[in-house]
Amino acid sequence: MKDVTDLPFMRVLARRGGPDWFVTEFFRVHPNSKPDRYILRSIRENQTGIPIFAQIIGSDPEAMVSEAKVLLREEIAGIDLNLGCPSPTVCGKSAGGGLLRQPQEIDRMIGMLRDSIPTRFTVKTRVGYHDESEFPALLEVFRKHAIDGLTIHARTVADRYQTPVRPHCVRLALKMLDCPIIANGNVINAQAGVNYQKNTEAHGLMIGRGAIRNPWLFDQLRQRYSGKSMHSPTARDLLSYIEDLYAELAQESKEYQEKHHIQRMKKTMLYIVQGLGDEFEHHMRRMQTEEEFFSLCRTHLNHDEPLPDVPPEQSKLFCGFQDLLDPSLP
Ligand SMILES: Cc1cc2nc3c(=O)[nH]c(=O)nc-3n(C[C@H](O)[C@H](O)[C@H](O)COP(=O)(O)O)c2cc1C
Repeated sequence: MKDVTDLPFMRVLARRGGPDWFVTEFFRVHPNSKPDRYILRSIRENQTGIPIFAQIIGSDPEAMVSEAKVLLREEIAGIDLNLGCPSPTVCGKSAGGGLLRQPQEIDRMIGMLRDSIPTRFTVKTRVGYHDESEFPALLEVFRKHAIDGLTIHARTVADRYQTPVRPHCVRLALKMLDCPIIANGNVINAQAGVNYQKNTEAHGLMIGRGAIRNPWLFDQLRQRYSGKSMHSPTARDLLSYIEDLYAELAQESKEYQEKHHIQRMKKTMLYIVQGLGDEFEHHMRRMQTEEEFFSLCRTHLNHDEPLPDVPPEQSKLFCGFQDLLDPSLP
């Protein structure tokens, strides 16, 4: 995830189990662009042992092909094309989710990328721009070019991040395509992940925001699938995760600047504090110094109570996940 799941975050996640695969933040591609050096480091210095996909986003097929060729020289699990980003700036340039309005352009871009990528080539998509009725035509394009995997953030671009996801769209993709299908969106705990996967029969899950809030989630899912008892993280575990992330990020900064660093931590902390009390979030938003930051974290987290398994349903950063907690989800 842009500006969050960088190399320091990957290291911290891997120490807590981590996923089977990572995907980089997206590389923005335009004519004559070169791969972003900071993101490249998450490939070159990835010593977690977890393979990583390089994700690209852009609107110019020729530029996408030449960037993909440069990235193919790196040690990557494959190239992933982003067709899901809903940012108005990105969509305004007909990139990311914006491209879903132009299936013919996607057809051309994917065709050219497929011809140039001899290894794994996967796509991350939403189920349409305005409406899910656009999805079957998009799936036809993905099928035509024999992509190696499809991750579905089962919302439209218009839905952004707030609505429930649409598991029936994942099921449709499984019917129409032969490649592995990965379900994404609203996996906020192990129960939601198991229900989403079982209901859709998807080959796997991609987890974004849920893993920022609960970095043990990948291991918890493995425990659920292998019938083992599930690790329940405590507040003190969370404190140690925050300390670890702070130290990793500080070590990566060329020059440690306290104020800048606190701002960077806040981006991640806003996901972490959901459900830990309004007061924690209120004060977190106002933190200025390292001392204030850790004093606040220790006040709220220096104890062994288990953490809440789910965030509040109507929190600003997690919502619409209630359906996935119901095992009989439609
Ligand atoms: C801050 C932020 C940055 C994101 N950046 C990316 C990105 O670079 N590439 C991508 O494929 N998806 C990106 N996403 C979307 C997530 O990967 C994911 O599809 C979406 O948040 C829904 O899944 P979740 O509920 O597990 O978070 C981003 C999401 C957020 C909130």
